[in-house]
Amino acid sequence: MRGAQGSALPTAPLASAGTGGFGVYVHVPFCASRCGYCDFNTYTVGDPDEREAYVTALYADLELARRTLCGHGGGGWGSHRGGGPPQVTTVFFGGGTPTMLAAEDLARILERIDALWPLAGDAEVTTEANPETVTPASLAALRSAGFTRISFGMQSTAPHVLALLDRRHAPGRAEAAVGEAIEAGFEHVSVDLIYGTPGESAGDFAASLAAALASGIDHLSAYSLIVEESTRLGARMRRGEVPYPDDDVAADRYLLAEQMLTDAGFQWYEVSNWARDAGGRCHHNLTYWSGGDWWGFGPGAHSHVAGVRWWNVKHPAAYRAALAAGAAPVEGSEVLTADDRHIEAVLLGVRLAEGLPASVLRPGAVREAQAAVAEGLLEAAAWRAGRVVLTLRGRLLADAVVRRLIP
Ligand SMILES: C[S@@+](CC[C@H](N)C(=O)[O-])C[C@H]1O[C@@H](n2cnc3c(N)ncnc32)[C@H](O)[C@@H]1O
Ligand code: SF4
Repeated sequence: MRGAQGSALPTAPLASAGTGGFGVYVHVPFCASRCGYCDFNTYTVGDPDEREAYVTALYADLELARRTLCGHGGGGWGSHRGGGPPQVTTVFFGGGTPTMLAAEDLARILERIDALWPLAGDAEVTTEANPETVTPASLAALRSAGFTRISFGMQSTAPHVLALLDRRHAPGRAEAAVGEAIEAGFEHVSVDLIYGTPGESAGDFAASLAAALASGIDHLSAYSLIVEESTRLGARMRRGEVPYPDDDVAADRYLLAEQMLTDAGFQWYEVSNWARDAGGRCHHNLTYWSGGDWWGFGPGAHSHVAGVRWWNVKHPAAYRAALAAGAAPVEGSEVLTADDRHIEAVLLGVRLAEGLPASVLRPGAVREAQAAVAEGLLEAAAWRAGRVVLTLRGRLLADAVVRRLIP
């Protein structure tokens, strides 16, 4: 059941929210420039006043959410635990480029979150960052403000790949930023790599992986380049100026990543994510992938609380205007049906290394899963033990396997 623009949030189910951990996502929609491949909800703004106005609106968003959750007599979030909101177990600042805001601004926002919705003592607090937007001093400020984890968009170490992707950082800067973050005391440091960029050789990608591993990270995300039609890179490919990525090359690069990361002591825990140990995993993303509850703040942010999903207006000006008028900046909402919940559980659960209980599958999907085991796409031993777990070959074809399991 989908709601129209500006619809009030269905608050009744919120009473059961947060019982299994609760995530807060903050979307920072600013970048110094837009990378040619990226279609995320982000804007290039030079005006510091606009950033200040965003922070003011974000505060209003946080406070409105707190009132929504605690102010509904009997139906609000706090009603099952005597009126207080649940503890926040993870916070994730994503973008855009959160570190386009000064470290002091990010610290202020985190402080406000802690004041309104208490953070668990061992909460994981992550920010994404572009390597060229941090300094030893800003990293130290973030660390002392309570950030525990940082994730850098490294993408590649090859100069020609960084150039094709329109990245602003010089080769070597991402590894240096990782070192500075470790020096500043960050417990967990991650990098993102993109593979399969046209012109990237196997050697280029191996060198990127080796540099990332040597830098001291305990987590790595590797994404195959997705060509988004609406982007500059998409247009260049349509005009024939740049070749499209090749699926076979992307599969080879994935196998290379798995090999080098495993050799270095990392283990996959989601198809595109590897960690050195369980503590290094991104617990915020695990909340998404395991159907948990999170509240997203900022323009275009999505939320999922107790089977209700909603999403904010995308443009920062519309976001500010809604909050200035005292309204929730919500564009639409839906209450998930049993069918929606089933599809989502399969879609997300199959991509995890721990997999999905086979009991979740519907009868048609059980037959497909048996066939996928015979084809070497799902682990036979896990299947016998009642779980659906992708093999390495299955990970290469994860989307196709998932489609077969949602009849
Ligand atoms: C939205 S960005 C935010 C982080 C930060 N602004 C940055 O770029 O480093 C998160 C990650 O998404 C990945 N990404 C974005 N667009 C992509 C695309 N079209 N194909 C593959 N990966 C993409 C990049 O690896 C990027 O680091
Ligand atoms: S810096 Fe990150 S969020 Fe910004 S345009 Fe580039 S990939 Fe997208």
